[in-house]
Amino acid sequence: MGRIKDIRPLKWTGESLLLLDQRKLPLKEEWVECRTYECVARAVEDMVVRGAPAIGVVAAYGVVLGAKELKEKVKSYVDFKAKLELIINRLAATRPTAVNLFWALKRMKKIVEAGQSIDDIVAALETEAVNIEKQDVETNRKIGFYGAELLSSREVILTHCNTGALATAGYGTALGVVRAAVEMGKEITVYVDETRPYLQGARLTAWELQQEGIPYYLITDNMAGWFMSLGEITCIIVGADRIARNGDTANKIGTYSLSVLAKEHGIPFYIAAPTSTFDLSISNGVEIPIEERNPEEVLYCHCKNCRIAPYGAKVKNPAFDVTPHENITGIITEKGVITSPNEENIVEFFSKA
Ligand code: MRU
Repeated sequence: MGRIKDIRPLKWTGESLLLLDQRKLPLKEEWVECRTYECVARAVEDMVVRGAPAIGVVAAYGVVLGAKELKEKVKSYVDFKAKLELIINRLAATRPTAVNLFWALKRMKKIVEAGQSIDDIVAALETEAVNIEKQDVETNRKIGFYGAELLSSREVILTHCNTGALATAGYGTALGVVRAAVEMGKEITVYVDETRPYLQGARLTAWELQQEGIPYYLITDNMAGWFMSLGEITCIIVGADRIARNGDTANKIGTYSLSVLAKEHGIPFYIAAPTSTFDLSISNGVEIPIEERNPEEVLYCHCKNCRIAPYGAKVKNPAFDVTPHENITGIITEKGVITSPNEENIVEFFSKA
């Protein structure tokens, strides 16, 4: 108890946004300072910051920076609003899959629409971005609590990608459940998938767990099934980038295979995500846009200076896959757990939430 650290991937100074450079972790802890919305957009595109909730929070601050830049240049209210819309569109075009980005920008848009003057809008946008950041941490603590309650006093949890403090404004979703369980005094060991090709597990999740002193084993992705067959994994918890109305869930590439293996071995498979990750406007996972990333991520080691495939190799590099809702034991949200998620259960959950 009490040993959980307050890792934060971003800091708002009032004038600029500081981002812990996740491309450099775990070897270097360096911060990037963004003073413009374009710097924020590039930071999201270049993976300085990543993780569905984190990019939503950061995009909200990007709007604030954009509004402050415009305030200096534009005099008319109509012009200010039109140009701010273009800035919001630029931020929305950074990454396509995680719906939290569009959710946060929608909240910012509402503030713009309600504002009566340039000064009012800029002030209200800053308040809203700070609220989005604060609420994200509170939300994650609630997800952590509901998730930890599902666990017994001793668990070996397999996780994929990074869903921790670094992927959010703080605390994390799936890794937040781990944190909460440890805070409750449960004995938790984590198996961390390295998460090829971008290695968010090896670089980021392992770094977070190490900071916390939570026991973990780093494994390569292709070892997961073997450890399940040996009975070493008692539970799988991963995050989400977008959840359709029927519960189909997009998350980091490799999640789908884990869900199939979990089903085969009778291991509970949970998604931990805030309700802002649900996209109720789409009926199933087929409609989720999947980001295709640079082939170099596959052709080179993460450190970039060592090529691992022959020149001329053709590459496919989807960043996410979709896990069908039938493979999901439950979705842990800040408002409770949706067990056996399907359209009926999800619609009922949201009608009460
Ligand atoms: O490409 P990334 O690193 O942004 O992908 C992140 C994931 O897939 C996470 O599992 C997801 O965003 C949930 S983070 C709480």
